[in-house]
Amino acid sequence: AHAYTRTAGEASKFGVPWPEARDLFRRFGGHRGIRLAGLHVHLGSQILDLEAFDDTFARLAEWIETLCADGIELEYLDIGGGLGVAYREDEQDPDPRALAALVQRHLGDRGRRWRLVVEPGRYLVAPAGVLLTRVLYVKQSGPRKFVVTDAGMTELLRSSHYESYHRIEPVEWLDRPPELVDVVGPVCESGDFLGRARLLPGVAPGDLLAVLTVGAYGFVMSSNYNQRRRPAEVLVEGRCARLIRRRETLDDLVAAERDEEV
Ligand SMILES: Cc1ncc(COP(=O)(O)O)c(C=O)c1O
Repeated sequence: AHAYTRTAGEASKFGVPWPEARDLFRRFGGHRGIRLAGLHVHLGSQILDLEAFDDTFARLAEWIETLCADGIELEYLDIGGGLGVAYREDEQDPDPRALAALVQRHLGDRGRRWRLVVEPGRYLVAPAGVLLTRVLYVKQSGPRKFVVTDAGMTELLRSSHYESYHRIEPVEWLDRPPELVDVVGPVCESGDFLGRARLLPGVAPGDLLAVLTVGAYGFVMSSNYNQRRRPAEVLVEGRCARLIRRRETLDDLVAAERDEEV
C-alpha cells in the first residue's frame, strides 16, 4: 500500500499502540461508567496480500488472551477494512473467503462468541465505478506525447495523490497503432495526470476514454479546484441507466459565497 494509505504502525496518527491499549483496558476495565466492549483494528487500505491479516489476527488472538487473563471479556471484534482490488492488469482481487478462513483460524472456536464487525469499503465499490473522459487534444512535446483529457485530478485524485494506477481504455475499439502516451488532465498542475507511460491505440481529440475501477475514493475525493464543476454520475443497472447526480453548474460553484457582516 502507498504510505498515505497505511494506517498501522507507530508512525501513524491512528489508533493506540497495544501496550497503551492494554493499560487503558486495565485502567478503565472496572470503571462504573465505562463498558469496554471490544477491540478494533484497521491495518490500512488496498491490501492484496492476506498475510498482513494473518499476522494481525494472530496478534489479536494473543491480545484477547491477555485481556481475558486480566478478567476482561470482549463483546465485539472489529477487523476493519482494507481488502484490496485489482487495479493493474496483472493483479487479482483477493478472495474474501480466504479472509474469512483466517478469521476462523485465529479467532473462531475459542469457546467464546463475539460479534464480528468488518468494514470493507474499496472492495465493495471500487470495481463498480468508471470515469468517462473525452480527449481534448494530443500534444507532442519533445520525446513525450500527452493526451489531454477533460477529466483530471479534480475528478480523480488518486493517480496524482497516491500515484495510483487505473487502467485506461478507449470506449470504442480503435484500429490504430499503439503509442506510448501520458494521459493528463487540463488542470494547472504537473501532478495532474490520470496515467503515465500508457500504451494506447493512437487516440485523437473527441475520442472517449474509460478510466476503470474508480468507484472507491474517486468521486468523493473530487474538488472544485480551478473552478472546475464536478461531472454527472450515472447509475447503470443491467440495461437501465439513471442520472443520480447532475453535472455541477457555475451557480453551484458560487452558491455558498457571501458578503455578510459577521
Ligand atoms: C477505520 C476504517 N475502516 C474501514 C475503512 C475502509 O477501508 P477500505 O476502503 O480500504 O476497505 C477505512 C478507510 O479509511 C477506515 O479508516
